Amino acid sequence: MKNFVFQNSTKIIFGQDTEQQVGQEAALYGKRLLLHYGGGSIKKSGLYDRVIQSLKAKGMEIFELSGVMPNPRVSLVREGISLCKEKNIDIILAVGGGSVIDSAKAIAAGAKYDGDVWDFFDGKGQITDCLPLGVVLTIPAAGSESSSGSVITNEDGWYKKSTGHPSMRPKFAILNPVLSYTLSAYQTACGITDMMAHIMERYFTNEKNVELTDRLCEATLRTIINNAHTVLDDPENYEARAEIMWSGTIAHNDLLSTGRIGDWGSHDIEHEISGIYDIAHGAGLAIVFPAWMKYVYKHDINRFAQFAHRVWDVEMNLNNLEKTALMGIEKLEAFFQSINMPIRLQEIKIDDTHLEEMARKGTESGPLGNFVKLHKEDVLHILKLAL
Ligand code: NZQ
Ligand code: ZN
Repeated sequence: MKNFVFQNSTKIIFGQDTEQQVGQEAALYGKRLLLHYGGGSIKKSGLYDRVIQSLKAKGMEIFELSGVMPNPRVSLVREGISLCKEKNIDIILAVGGGSVIDSAKAIAAGAKYDGDVWDFFDGKGQITDCLPLGVVLTIPAAGSESSSGSVITNEDGWYKKSTGHPSMRPKFAILNPVLSYTLSAYQTACGITDMMAHIMERYFTNEKNVELTDRLCEATLRTIINNAHTVLDDPENYEARAEIMWSGTIAHNDLLSTGRIGDWGSHDIEHEISGIYDIAHGAGLAIVFPAWMKYVYKHDINRFAQFAHRVWDVEMNLNNLEKTALMGIEKLEAFFQSINMPIRLQEIKIDDTHLEEMARKGTESGPLGNFVKLHKEDVLHILKLAL
């Protein structure tokens, strides 16, 4: 087990009606608040009205910036930064999913910086401080509600890049599973896939003695798998929605990374796909992850066999561990199919036109991944396996 520091300071407020506490939590950080949200789902569901009411009850002065798109754009981030500087904003409140939260995080960092915010994403600038950020989560998926990272797309060249800093971590995150009832089956499944991918990125490590985190990863994956069909068949099942929502946070709050180094190659490859084709991140991962697994499993067949056995109940074939390992990958793919995720690029009408470009852009600043280092040719190979 590697040495580690674990500090996740996001206050999680979980359960029914918890959005009513947003005013009280936000007021701890000042009066002037930027309310940041997406394309309107929060208005349709009535959440917007409840949030405004709670904020007003605490005397907050509210400024608004809406219109965050999935795969959030740097142009709106820049708009948000100007607004924060001009209006002297004390706190940003993100009401939505990963895209809204990531956009809010980039605004929070940019508001404390004199240069252009994209500097943080292309390595030209360092985040040192952020405006405080609060979250009301509406889709369990990205785990951004308690992560220290942000992923933003630059329309100029369609680069999708990430950055991170401890000060970016939300001060509080309100998680009411009821807010996820209005998600479409597709968005629910994309979220499930993303959180599973966050766990698997951590699971496939070269660190040998990490039994506790291995087993925590397996338990979280099994919980997601056990509840996935329930939330899809019965979207208003509170208990199942609650299991999924909490799993999404646990998957990405860094607890499962303790003592080990994760991979993240599949995420980086997916960001190249959603950067160019603007697809949902979770759908991209359902395609990339199995392809990555098929390409790298021989690097540690034991770990893949353990994954198959402990997560998917595949019988351990001690005479043929490779067979066990491959059955685990098959089970994962079949699961993604069962929740109506695509598992090949062609299913979402992506052909080989940009594969070379994606492999090049993805490896511009060095090889991807840690479990196995992936150079341009490796990434291209994985993308071809995903076709
Ligand atoms: O914009 P609105 O109208 O709100 O609609 C959204 C959006 O169209 C809709 N939605 C959200 N909550 C809803 C709802 N519709 C009905 N009812 C609700 N309760 O869902 C759509 C997708 O939202 P989005 O925020 O894009 O989804 P997600 O949470 O999956 O976020 C994806 C983004 O997060 C990044 C991804 O790359 C992607 O850009 N990630 C961020 C990470 C981080 N910061 O730590 C890590 C992840 O690996 C990921 O890369
Ligand atoms: Zn992800």
